[in-house]
Amino acid sequence: MFKIRPRRLRKNSSIISLTQENWVKAEDLIYPVFVKSGSENQEIKSMPNIYRFSLDNLLREIEDSMALGIKAIALFPVVEEEFKTLSAEESYNPNSLNQKTIRAIKKRFPELILISDIALDPYTSHGHDGLIRDGKILNDETVKVLAMMALAQAEAGADIVAPSDMMDGRIGAIRQALDENNFFDTKIMSYTAKYKSNLYAPFRDALGSLGSKKSYDENSDIPKDKSSYQMNYANSREALRELELDIAEGADIVMVKPAGWYGDIIQTFKQNSTIPIAAYQVSGEYAMIYSAYQAGYIDLEPAIIESLTAIKRAGADLILSYFSRHCLRITQKIK
Ligand code: PBG
Repeated sequence: MFKIRPRRLRKNSSIISLTQENWVKAEDLIYPVFVKSGSENQEIKSMPNIYRFSLDNLLREIEDSMALGIKAIALFPVVEEEFKTLSAEESYNPNSLNQKTIRAIKKRFPELILISDIALDPYTSHGHDGLIRDGKILNDETVKVLAMMALAQAEAGADIVAPSDMMDGRIGAIRQALDENNFFDTKIMSYTAKYKSNLYAPFRDALGSLGSKKSYDENSDIPKDKSSYQMNYANSREALRELELDIAEGADIVMVKPAGWYGDIIQTFKQNSTIPIAAYQVSGEYAMIYSAYQAGYIDLEPAIIESLTAIKRAGADLILSYFSRHCLRITQKIK
């Protein structure tokens, strides 16, 4: 008689790695970065080691990241209060901080893939992703502004535009606007299943968007949260509906967000589509892992690699992660 012995393949590290199914590699990582005006960097309190960079310092950070193997960044602007309005005009200003930063980055690093965010939350005075009238988020009016925003970013040189707002029909409207203006090669990475998560709080703190403002008036008719556009985290079939729509409307890459608690959704996307799947390990995931490490409860490096590998195992082709640089330093054994 014999015994089946799976442990044979766990005998030593060589056989373990020879039979490893999923790896996180530089080619799969997208590094999200924040740019601010002025010449000083600011550390983001709820995201240790992550900065709002001045443009000069951001260019240095990108150069250093590319030396580590990073091939793509996702850009988020920290917009000054004076440019935030109810109609978010700054979002499509060709000379906004975001558009100027795109131009400067692409001039210096033409081979870098630059992903630019499409959503109104950095630009609205209330911090919502949509225009508001009578206490309601306006879908179609918002989509018009998003299409203008996509054009301004494509003109500035963005390789990929990434709508993160969850308005209905925005992928089709953006594709149409890009096509009509001959931006046939500008890709759309859609935040397809973006859940209304508690894990975005550090990001909102970084940008000064919804919920982060001291001046926020509890008595206004502005919706208190994003539940009328971001998805209910209790649902999975609804994500498939969003997936079908985004593919039909011309998305090139579809995304699940957050990533770590949403492995089932990533797997569903993988099984039900033929285009690349991205997953966003969001600010709260970063903060949870980092603060557990700072408290002395877990080891940072193995936890980073485990968290990213689990997202790959679920089926993500691309991962947006604030740990991208940490990950590459770990895998390349750079201290
Ligand atoms: C909003 C937007 C959010 C993130 C990126 N763009 C979340 C939100 O405020 O709803 C979250 C990213 C993160 O938490 O790291 N357009």
